[in-house]
Amino acid sequence: MYATQADFVGGTDVLSNSRVESYIRANSFERPTLVLDTDRVADRFHALRAGLGQAAIHYAVKANPAREVIERLVGLGCHFDAASRGEIELCLGLGAAPHQISFGNTVKRVADIAFAHRAGVTLFAADAEEELDKIAEHAPGAEVYIRVLVTASQADWPLSRKFGCAPAKVAPLMARAVALGLRPAGLSFHVGSQTRRADMWVPVLNEVAEIWHAARAEGYDLDLLNIGGGFPAYYGEDVQPPALYAAEVMRLVTERFGAVPRVMAEPGRGMVAEAGAIAAEVMLVSQKSDDDTYRWVYLDIGKFSGLAETMDEAIRYQFATDRDHEATGPCILAGPSCDSADVLYEKRPVQLPVGLRSGDKVIIRNCGAYTSSYSSVGFNGFPPLDVVVI
Ligand SMILES: Cc1ncc(COP(=O)(O)O)c(C=O)c1O
Repeated sequence: MYATQADFVGGTDVLSNSRVESYIRANSFERPTLVLDTDRVADRFHALRAGLGQAAIHYAVKANPAREVIERLVGLGCHFDAASRGEIELCLGLGAAPHQISFGNTVKRVADIAFAHRAGVTLFAADAEEELDKIAEHAPGAEVYIRVLVTASQADWPLSRKFGCAPAKVAPLMARAVALGLRPAGLSFHVGSQTRRADMWVPVLNEVAEIWHAARAEGYDLDLLNIGGGFPAYYGEDVQPPALYAAEVMRLVTERFGAVPRVMAEPGRGMVAEAGAIAAEVMLVSQKSDDDTYRWVYLDIGKFSGLAETMDEAIRYQFATDRDHEATGPCILAGPSCDSADVLYEKRPVQLPVGLRSGDKVIIRNCGAYTSSYSSVGFNGFPPLDVVVI
């Protein structure tokens, strides 16, 4: 299935009538608040499932661990990718069965591995000898998948450098897993978060397929391919609708890997980002000098209170205000804390209404992923991001 131009969505009007925005416009908030609509999470789950076909969906809990999101997904039969004991406990406590949970962090605390094993979780990620040793000791007999390093990511938020082992280490790690009494079931990778187009998966899938076929040629009977996350959200640049995107990814996977008995996908951002918007407020608009090129607009939310993904201006959120019918001009957007790193967009200033004033409400669109889970507990005395589920 090939995407045509008509298969892409874009434009800031796409979500302006969403329930979360109506809710934000109709209510006042004492502090920055993420408003989430779990119906949209459910819609997204169904769309991804339609596109992913037989692949099991393990929602990456780290993207948004709100209880209501997990509960809703449990009800839909979703599986979960957990990064820690806390996330495993959350999912189990809300009704997920242990076999629906994979422990996907490649850097796990020994006590957490032992906890997961006792709880009945049997599937673990690893990318190093020592991690396999830990798993073998504390979760004997477990199934493991080896995470491979990918270099060709074209994602807006690449994850490639920190995780995964080089291709040449895959076979030795598999051999070690076998020697330790573990079952090396397959491979995992992450194409990079916010990979905007399905065709951007091609170079990464080519890299991983080569490793997969080499491991099979060495006699490892791999039956599990974990394709990770990377499914995008709309942040102003066109993205394919989720079912179409996912179907295209699966087509590319099948083309390269053949019929893999078990494929799993771990969408985080793609599952929840568009289900939420943040209600924020302008705290100050200032001009540093009379001939300053740009105004500075300071919001009541910044890098430390939920908008961490503005780091390097990687994720560019969309803003809506009640003055959007007025003239706009470029401004530097910053957070409220006394930390000079707390500047959201400066290299590429944002266009906001010139009439914007302290006290004006600002809606930050498609913020359901990696916001509440990234906000600090009390940096500068600002409370963590509030969450309201409607
Ligand atoms: C192991 C793993 N799986 C899945 C995800 C989710 O990725 P995304 O939000 O791009 O879907 C992440 C994100 O960091 C991850 O580390």
